[in-house]
Amino acid sequence: MSSQTNSRVVSGMRPTGMLHLGHYHGVLKNWVEMQHDYECFFFAADWHALTTHYETPQGIAESSEQLLIDWLAAGVSPSNSTLFIQSHVPQHAELHLLLSMMTPLSWLERIPTYKDQKKKLTGRDLTTYGFLGYPLLQSADILLYRAGLVPVGEDQVVHVEMTREIARRFNHFYGQEAGFAESCEQAIPKMGKKSAKLYRSQRKAFQEQGDGEALLKAQALIDSQQNISIADKERLLGYLEGVSKMILPEPQAKLTKAAKMPGLDGQKMSKSYGNTIGLREEPDALTKKIKTMPTDPARIRLTDPGDPEKCPVWQLHQVYTDDKTHEWVQEGCRSAGMGCVDCKQPLIDAVQAELEPIRVRAKRYENDRTYLRTIINEGSAAATEVANETMDDVRKAMQLYQ
Ligand code: TRP
Ligand code: SF4
Repeated sequence: MSSQTNSRVVSGMRPTGMLHLGHYHGVLKNWVEMQHDYECFFFAADWHALTTHYETPQGIAESSEQLLIDWLAAGVSPSNSTLFIQSHVPQHAELHLLLSMMTPLSWLERIPTYKDQKKKLTGRDLTTYGFLGYPLLQSADILLYRAGLVPVGEDQVVHVEMTREIARRFNHFYGQEAGFAESCEQAIPKMGKKSAKLYRSQRKAFQEQGDGEALLKAQALIDSQQNISIADKERLLGYLEGVSKMILPEPQAKLTKAAKMPGLDGQKMSKSYGNTIGLREEPDALTKKIKTMPTDPARIRLTDPGDPEKCPVWQLHQVYTDDKTHEWVQEGCRSAGMGCVDCKQPLIDAVQAELEPIRVRAKRYENDRTYLRTIINEGSAAATEVANETMDDVRKAMQLYQ
């Protein structure tokens, strides 16, 4: 059973270096909006950083704080969201451990990011237990807060999908209520031998392996029964999904509309392409970066007409400037009526205007680390409180308490 009605949001980022405008337009602006409509938990996933950087942990703690500064500068607010660092809430590790007891290895091995990354990140030995468990640690991050929504990029959707399966399996193993299960068990044989057997095997396939088709088949099977009461039908439908007691609700991925932020060279903005504008880029450096951007290569001389479609500057205009400016660019470029230097100026002004308040806010936290740490400590304490509520239920369900 999913929890679409649950308005709690959880998301994290690995602390891997300063954020750029791609992160701002693609992720952070979404977070800033969401914090008004949902109860949000945002954290720096420092343990996730360790799964790939276990040999070089120096810098992770500093990067985590810098990441929090970037968020705060972008307008994520500690009064609207709970902001913290993963390792400051050790319940993430406890839940990860307990979930690891019931997680089939094959679920982790089949995650595409596992194989891809292991191949891509050459030069590092990623045949580790921690790296294989990366998505399960992410499941723990999400389930610990009983999140309804997880804003993530496309590449992370499989991790949220696995989290749903983990939650379902957990609820199936540890969430049964005695009376409910008994009445379901009594209802099953009423369907007749053949259907009862089918029901059992499909229920098992869905609950233990996450087989969605088996669920649909079993639901159709129940619908087609003529000889059992409506109450029994309802019971058996519920029993299929094991919703008798939902200890860990299933979250939904909320796809951040891939606002494809163009970089300085026209490719997607990305650290690995070296084409970024930093969220805290200083004014002079920012101006220089835009001034030296490549333009339509056909415009060698001022008198050569150009084609904005072949120019990375135009792509940025589409993100940053208004319709009137767009017309001015199109007209001036195609008629060779203006030079590229002129064309870039309104863009420089627009990006400067966007970044100015961000820079100012960032400075405040850079210069007052004590204040930043207070925010992080308060966030971690608030997160711990929620985490403990969940862990109490989890420990009880797993019979670790008398
Ligand atoms: N794996 C995510 C990424 O690389 C970061 C992350 C860790 C996360 N835990 C999470 C995202 C929990 C959402 C929810 O981007
Ligand atoms: Fe690009 Fe503007 Fe120069 Fe045209 S005028 S090539 S759009 S920078």
